[in-house]
Amino acid sequence: MTFFQQQQAAAVLKHGILKRYLPVFVNKTGSQAGEVAYIDCYAGPGQYEDGSDGSPALALATAQAVAKARGRASLSLHLIEKNRKQFDQLGDFLDRHDVGAEWVAHHGSAKDVVPEILRYDLKPRTPVFAFIDPFGLPIPFDTVIDIMKRGRTSGRVGAPTEVLLNFTLSGIRRNAGQLDARATMPANKKAAATTVRTMNNTMGGEWWQSIWRSEAEDRVDQIRSEYSRRLLENAPGGWAFFDIDVSDRWQGPVSYHLLLFTQHRDGIWAFHEALSSAQEEYRTYCHGVEGLLELEPLEERAAKWVAHIEENVERILREEEKFKPVLRIDRVFGDAFGEAREKHLRTALRNLKRASLISTDPKGQLANLWIHR
Ligand SMILES: C[S@@+](CC[C@H](N)C(=O)[O-])C[C@H]1O[C@@H](n2cnc3c(N)ncnc32)[C@H](O)[C@@H]1O
Repeated sequence: MTFFQQQQAAAVLKHGILKRYLPVFVNKTGSQAGEVAYIDCYAGPGQYEDGSDGSPALALATAQAVAKARGRASLSLHLIEKNRKQFDQLGDFLDRHDVGAEWVAHHGSAKDVVPEILRYDLKPRTPVFAFIDPFGLPIPFDTVIDIMKRGRTSGRVGAPTEVLLNFTLSGIRRNAGQLDARATMPANKKAAATTVRTMNNTMGGEWWQSIWRSEAEDRVDQIRSEYSRRLLENAPGGWAFFDIDVSDRWQGPVSYHLLLFTQHRDGIWAFHEALSSAQEEYRTYCHGVEGLLELEPLEERAAKWVAHIEENVERILREEEKFKPVLRIDRVFGDAFGEAREKHLRTALRNLKRASLISTDPKGQLANLWIHR
């Protein structure tokens, strides 16, 4: 079976997040700016052969929903695909479904096309959501930074900009593994040297080589952490990031990490909401495909999350008189991070209010609500 015949479990999670989070980003940023751009750097054919949606189909559905709402926001799509066959399939897919949405399909390599889009196709204040979803190595480090440079910095308003990047562990292993490849044939030597150069460009330097050579068991994780740290350090303006590990089967080994880079704290909250719902969809999908019994129904898990959040909130309020959940998101959700979401927090806060352990009435949006003792 090839990748695009049937959606893999790990893709269910990334698509679950994308389809929930992209509309939130567009509605939040587009209500002021009007046009929002989505750049899919590694688009694929649009849809899988089994009819399930790939990232272009999900973005197109968002664009159509936004157009139908007839508000100020609109979403235009830039879809990049290098492979001729996938590109043609993508074109066919878009031709069949493009009612009411602006799109451009770019045939070429993301590393060449992204700089052109940034330079020629986007107005400086157009909000951008970039999805970087390669099979192997992503676009060069400097190009990711160029996307992030569009964001807010002190002294410049910039444009709301977010990057969702698939950091594929097998891609790193495969390419980094060429570092000390013992090739004897000149052609193989040359290919290994090219791969190492590409790895240097992707990582933004040679720093990864010493980590790889250390042979440490967690060397790929070390490279991932350092890569994220360097992006945060080199992108101007303040950035927050999420790192989610994703497996190809239920509780299996991690196959990739989804890294979200955002400048907005509402983005953090909304992304966590999307993640929580997508996790449930992924869990149901894996259980179905793998024929697993659901040993812990959702109601039971939700009751545990609520109890855990109550404890977490009480713990925070022992240290602080008041707090905003969005600023304490890891501590509020604790072990239920990425699984529970706002509705579970609301139940927990209602319970605490009823027991007179907090004074805040948990009404309306909770992210920025002060929770008082
Ligand atoms: C993991 S798939 C993308 C899946 C898609 N984002 C989705 O969620 O449905 C990666 C795609 O990138 C394409 N590709 C590979 N190298 C590329 C490059 N340098 N630039 C653009 N696309 C590339 C591959 O042909 C493949 O279709």
